[in-house]
Amino acid sequence: MPATVLVGTQWGDEGKGKITDEIAADFDVVCRFAGGANAGHTVVANGHKLALHQVPSGVMYEGTASVIGNGCIVDPEVLMEEVRMLEGQGISTDNLKISGNAHVVLPFHKVLDGAHEQALGSKNLGTTKRGIGPTYMDKMNRTGVRIQDMLDDDTFRQKLADSLAYTNPILEKVYGLPTYTVDQIFEQLHEDIEWIRPHIIESSAFLNEELEAGKSILFEGAQATMLDIDHGTYPFVTSSNCTAGGAVTGSGVGPTQIKRIIGVAKAYLTRVGAGPFPTELLDETGKKLREVGHEYGVTTGRERRCGWYDANVIKYAARVNGLTDLAVTKLDVLDDFDEIKVCVAYDVDGKRYETLPELEPLVEKAKPIYETLPGWKCDITGVRKFEDLPQEAQDYIAYLEKLAGVRVSIVTVGPDREQTINRFWK
Ligand code: GDP
Ligand code: IMO
Ligand code: MG
Repeated sequence: MPATVLVGTQWGDEGKGKITDEIAADFDVVCRFAGGANAGHTVVANGHKLALHQVPSGVMYEGTASVIGNGCIVDPEVLMEEVRMLEGQGISTDNLKISGNAHVVLPFHKVLDGAHEQALGSKNLGTTKRGIGPTYMDKMNRTGVRIQDMLDDDTFRQKLADSLAYTNPILEKVYGLPTYTVDQIFEQLHEDIEWIRPHIIESSAFLNEELEAGKSILFEGAQATMLDIDHGTYPFVTSSNCTAGGAVTGSGVGPTQIKRIIGVAKAYLTRVGAGPFPTELLDETGKKLREVGHEYGVTTGRERRCGWYDANVIKYAARVNGLTDLAVTKLDVLDDFDEIKVCVAYDVDGKRYETLPELEPLVEKAKPIYETLPGWKCDITGVRKFEDLPQEAQDYIAYLEKLAGVRVSIVTVGPDREQTINRFWK
C-alpha cells in the first residue's frame, strides 16, 4: 500500500495515536502533515503510556522513519522536551526527520495566542495556547520563520529580525505586552536549534523517493475533521487543514499516491474547547462517559465535553475526507450502559438533516434525533475477534457502519496496543 491517510472524524482525541501505533509496523514511514503541539496522541505499549505532541506516533518502531511534514508547525521547546522523554524511555529519535518548509512556533506566538484568547473574553475559542493560530497567521501572512532558516545562524537571526519587525508593534501597541529581541529568542532556542539542524530534510523529495523505491507511508492526522479550518465548525476550529486533503499539501505527495483513507471515530463523542456540539450531554450520562472514558485532555488536562455518537458528523467526515475505512475506538467505554443512543439526523426548524449542514446558523439550531440501541452490559476489553463480541456490540458496530456507508475495519476495546480487533485492515 503506497500511501494511507489516517484522520480524526470528530472533534479530536478519537484515539489516532493508538491506531497509528497499531498499524505503523506495516509502514516504512509515518508522517504528520498538519498541526503542532496542540495535538496530544496517547500510545500505550508494553505497559508504558506516552503522550506525543510533536513527534509522529510511528517513533515507537525502530525500523520506521518519522517525518514532521511541511504542513506542521514545530515548537522547538516542546519538541526537545519530547525527544528527551523518548530517549529517556529508550526510544530512539535518530530516525526523526523534519521538513525544512515546516514553520517554527516562536515564544511570542504562544504569548499572542493567550493574549488573543483573553481579549475575546467570553467569546474565546478555548485554544490549547500552544501558539497555533498566531504561527499559521504568520505563515499565511508570509512573515513566518521556517525550520530551514535554522540551517544557518545568520539566516535564522535575520528571519527572526524580519518577523519581530512585524510582531513587536502588535505585542506593544495592540496588547500592551513586552517586546522581544533577536538575541533573547536566539539564546532561548540556541541549543534546540543545534539538535534540530541535522534532522532537517527536503521532505517532499524524501517522501516521493521512498514511494518510488516501493516503500509505504502512513500519514498521521492530528486534530480532526470538525476542527479543520475549512470544513470544521468555524470559528471554533484549529488553524490547519487536518482533513485528508491536508496530507497532500502538508507533505508534497500527490493525491494519486493515496490509496486508503481511514477515519478514526470514537464510539461516542467528545470535544474540548468551545463551539457547537449537538449531541452534548450535560447530565449524569455525560459525566459517566467522562469518568469511564477518562476524558481529560492530553495537552491541557481540561475536562472533555461528552455526548452520544453523531452519525451526521461521521457522514460529513466520510464525504469531506473520502473515507475508505473507519476505525471505531473506545467501544469498551459503553460496556456498562443499559441503552446507547445514536444521533441519526438533526431537526433544524422542523426540517430533517441527515448530514451536518455547512451553514453556521443551521448547526447552532440542530436538535439531535436519536435511535436507541440496547447495551451489552459486559466487559469486552479481553475480546480480540469481532465474532466474539456480544451480539449487541456487533449490532452497534454494524449500525454505525450502515449509517456511515463506510466499512468499520478496526474496533478498539482498550488503550493497550493489543486491545484491538482487526476486521478488514489486513
Ligand atoms: P488522539 O488525540 O486521537 O490520539 O487521542 P488521545 O490520545 O488524545 O485520546 C484517546 C484516549 O483514549 C487516550 O487516553 C487513549 O489511551 C485512550 N484509548 C484509545 N483507545 C481506547 C480504547 O479502545 N478504550 C479505552 N478505554 N481507551 C482508549
Ligand atoms: P488531537 O490531535 C482535541 C481544539 C482546542 C480548541 C481548538 C483550537 O489530540 O486530536 P488550537 O490550540 O488548535 O488553536 O485550538 O481546537 N484542539 C483539539 N481538540 N484534540 C486535539 O488534537 C486538538 N487540537 C486542537 O481545544 O477548541
Ligand atoms: Mg488527543
